[in-house]
Amino acid sequence: MATVSLKGITKSFGKTEVIHGIDVDIRDGEFIVIVGPSGCGKSTLLRMVAGLETVTSGEVQIGGARVNDREPMDRDIAMVFQNYALYPHMSVYDNMAYGLKIAGTPKAEIAERVAEAATLLQLEDYLKRRPRELSGGQRQRVAMGRAIVRKPSVFLFDEPLSNLDAKLRVQMRLEIKQLQRRLGVTSLYVTHDQVEAMTLADRMIVMNAGRADQIGAPLEVYANPQTEFVAGFIGSPPMNFLPADMAHDAPPGAVKLGIRPEHLTLAQTGTAAKVIYTEALGAETLLHVDLANGTRATVRQDAIAPHPKEGETVHLAWDAGNRIFFDSEGQRC
Ligand SMILES: Nc1ncnc2c1ncn2[C@@H]1O[C@H](COP(=O)(O)OP(=O)(O)OP(=O)(O)O)[C@@H](O)[C@H]1O
Ligand SMILES: [Mg+2]
Repeated sequence: MATVSLKGITKSFGKTEVIHGIDVDIRDGEFIVIVGPSGCGKSTLLRMVAGLETVTSGEVQIGGARVNDREPMDRDIAMVFQNYALYPHMSVYDNMAYGLKIAGTPKAEIAERVAEAATLLQLEDYLKRRPRELSGGQRQRVAMGRAIVRKPSVFLFDEPLSNLDAKLRVQMRLEIKQLQRRLGVTSLYVTHDQVEAMTLADRMIVMNAGRADQIGAPLEVYANPQTEFVAGFIGSPPMNFLPADMAHDAPPGAVKLGIRPEHLTLAQTGTAAKVIYTEALGAETLLHVDLANGTRATVRQDAIAPHPKEGETVHLAWDAGNRIFFDSEGQRC
């Protein structure tokens, strides 16, 4: 187990800089999720920690030591990818044992470690099978097992669940979280799925075009987003953005007013809006409404509340404590 520190990390491919200076100190045993849209630099950042990409400037430290010039093999990390990258012609046992064999680990110890990981991952009955004889979830577990047997100081995950169907993803997400808690191994986990980020992370790094817009605990980021990008990216449905002048006490420089869908309520008086369509999702109902100024907003209601019909005019109210403001650069003000 180890701390991981990134100090002013940048990355350029040719003349194009894609990571613009990331600083973060990750605690021993912490679960960090790197989340952001496609192309924002998540994999590149992770691959620099792994040693699969060089760092253009800045320093990667693992366990307090600078590792910029160390080969991936010598960084005491294990990586789990989206495509699992299992060897198709090898049994589950051999897939898990392979890295240890290469490293020259004695046979008896390999057997012991693989057995231990197989128990942990409930793969005992599948050790003789080939990857093609396994379900997607089982293959994912084998990929995890291969990382676990190495007993690394740091786990690196790059979208490990994105090949699985929705239900299995939820199940595997729980398994990964429990496993990480149990093993206490410092973990960096890349995903573009903000729900996955919210549920797995001790802290998340929300990336936007090669920058860390915000680093913090999921609920802290949700409640207190520092940029318009973070406010719109974290939370589903996303935060509503209304013209700032709809609030008469907007701070100087404010151009947008942000309010979460659950913080908009229907009232007798207030801002008029027309219900465009409703989505009854079971536990909750979303009302999509248009304001007179053309802004579309979403109101989240309990499923049991009486819902207005499509085409009806409603009035919206919100609490001053539940709104935030952004300036023309998308920064909080
Ligand atoms: N080898 C490379 N050469 C040139 N540009 C690259 C290379 N690898 C990545 N990039 C660019 O760097 C940027 C970040 O890519 P990266 O793969 O890190 O994104 P990502 O956040 O992981 O996206 P995704 O969610 O789609 O996997 C992209 O603009 C990408 O085109
Ligand atoms: Mg990626």
